[in-house]
Amino acid sequence: MPLTDFFARKPEFEIFALETADLPQAAAIHKSRFTHAWSDGELHSLLIQDTVFGFIARQNNAYTRPFITQPFVGGFVLSRVAAGEAEILTIGVDPRFSRLGLGWRLMRAALREARDQAAEAVFLEVDETNAAAIALYRKLGFAKVGERRAYYQGVNGVKTGALVMRLDLG
Ligand SMILES: CC(C)(COP(=O)(O)OP(=O)(O)OC[C@H]1O[C@@H](n2cnc3c(N)ncnc32)[C@H](O)[C@@H]1OP(=O)(O)O)[C@@H](O)C(=O)NCCC(=O)NCCS
Repeated sequence: MPLTDFFARKPEFEIFALETADLPQAAAIHKSRFTHAWSDGELHSLLIQDTVFGFIARQNNAYTRPFITQPFVGGFVLSRVAAGEAEILTIGVDPRFSRLGLGWRLMRAALREARDQAAEAVFLEVDETNAAAIALYRKLGFAKVGERRAYYQGVNGVKTGALVMRLDLG
């Protein structure tokens, strides 16, 4: 294989069920994207709950020799279903792979699983200043159903509100 191919190879991603072995990489993505990072231990304590599930975008065209490169993890989503309602607990995409459709694909996988688990609606909370996430959720059909004032505290101490959004799966 020519060296130029090696460097030019564009990662392609596939969506898999999130497993405990993936959590260190999921935690690294969470840390890179959120002010209040969740450790892999915290993610683990969620994922082992019967009501919680997740998905991960993993590179499917990495070179097989691990000393050369490891497959990239592009992002992950964590969700919970209980009593006919689902909740998106968190979603994060590695900034290197932003705007490639991974957030969309991860959310679609979570929504499909929620529907399979008999959820009739999905809820989430999002920072009112998070334009990218709000645009993603609106594109998926979520609508604002509530607001929580001064809900999030940023690194600079400035508090921002949360939007509560809902998608009907019925
Ligand atoms: C929100 C997030 C998950 C989106 O992931 P992504 O893989 O980059 O998004 P996608 O490529 O799937 O985008 C799907 C749609 O979302 C919207 N969108 C995504 N990023 C956007 C941006 N930066 N600005 C405006 N719209 C955006 C667009 O409608 C986009 O569709 P389009 O590309 O056809 O216009 C990602 O930005 C992220 O991890 N953010 C930090 C963590 C976070 O905010 N999580 C949500 C907390 S509630």
